[in-house]
Amino acid sequence: MMKRGDILPPSKFREDFAPLREEFPVCYLDNACTTMRPDSVVDAVTSYYTKGPGCGGRSPHRWGNAVTQNVVQAREKIAKFIGASRSEIVFTLNSTAGINQIARGINWKKGDVVITSDKEHNSNFVPWIQLKNRGLINHEIVNSNDDNTFNLNSFEDACSSAGGNLRLVAIPHISNLDGVGNPVNEICKIAHDYGAEVLLDSAQSVPIQKTNINQLGCDYMTFSMHKMLGPSGIGILFGKEESLQNLDTISGGGKTVSKVGSNNLEFLQGPQKFEGGSSNYAGIAGAKAAIEYLEGVDFEWLERHVKKLNTIITDGVKDLDRVSIIGPSSASERRGMTSMIVDGIDVHDLAIILDEAGSVMVRSGFHCVNSWFDSMGFSNGSLRTSAYLYNTEDDARKFVEIFEEAVTALS
Ligand code: ALA
Repeated sequence: MMKRGDILPPSKFREDFAPLREEFPVCYLDNACTTMRPDSVVDAVTSYYTKGPGCGGRSPHRWGNAVTQNVVQAREKIAKFIGASRSEIVFTLNSTAGINQIARGINWKKGDVVITSDKEHNSNFVPWIQLKNRGLINHEIVNSNDDNTFNLNSFEDACSSAGGNLRLVAIPHISNLDGVGNPVNEICKIAHDYGAEVLLDSAQSVPIQKTNINQLGCDYMTFSMHKMLGPSGIGILFGKEESLQNLDTISGGGKTVSKVGSNNLEFLQGPQKFEGGSSNYAGIAGAKAAIEYLEGVDFEWLERHVKKLNTIITDGVKDLDRVSIIGPSSASERRGMTSMIVDGIDVHDLAIILDEAGSVMVRSGFHCVNSWFDSMGFSNGSLRTSAYLYNTEDDARKFVEIFEEAVTALS
């Protein structure tokens, strides 16, 4: 019987995932894009539709009550998982939707500055450019160090230049470009000294490392359940109570108001204000099941595990002609991720060969970090591997073997 926090070998986890029980399972190394889902998550989603497809927070019949309760429990579980309280957890569509809610919900003042890094996912880039183009904010970019780690000195300079106008610092906790983590504590401290809030795009960090928002010190955090064994189309926006109170909703509608009339509109406080309309109840049920599954995972083991697989991949590719790894040379600084520029070979061709020759699945292209690739002149994008709890050392070795053969064949 599995106990909370037990350390299980990947082979044990693999039994829980239908695609990995196939006779010839895939070697899935595209977990930064999306993860597989265990049976318990699939069952929770299916159960909603087959056993009680009601609406939460509205109808007092059995099904309605069960959904209402499940939403409360899911919110509570997710809050506990990141050290937050229930009133600080908003259900969204995904991380992108959470960031857009913040971008559109802050009452910007003329001259307000938003700082991001130079390697943002489009979800933490496009919303700020949209606001900038409408004249609502000034957007400043902090360039990374040569090895793609965060440059705290440049960040301090940017904060100092913005001075009293600095309103928000929006950065990834771990980058989806190269797996590099940012020094969040220092960033939060400096930003707060300037009176600004901090938004962490944690889509890549919450799935692989133990997260406690009190230790991090951020004001907002967003993540997506599909990158952590949960269903697609359900994400989380964490906001400190005071921050959520001051944020306008972009989803005004049913269940968001306490008073409604053409001359008197009063919004509910807390998450409900942001969750207008009926919710993705099946997704919320699946999200709860995903958190329950992750409660049985030792995250210290998980971090070590993905780093170990990443070391096998790094050691296997680092000396290949044409191949250069984005970010620090040390695999452990890139967690489970290796993103490679492959000079003169189309990375999409490589990804297709990897799949066709060995069912090895990786991502190729710009990974939605177009601005970084454009600024660096890497017009071919990169090939990216990303490991998770069910991957094995054999997966990592198989990738290396086929990748090397493919690069040699296409050279
Ligand atoms: N953000 C996801 C990725 O990096 C989609 O692949």
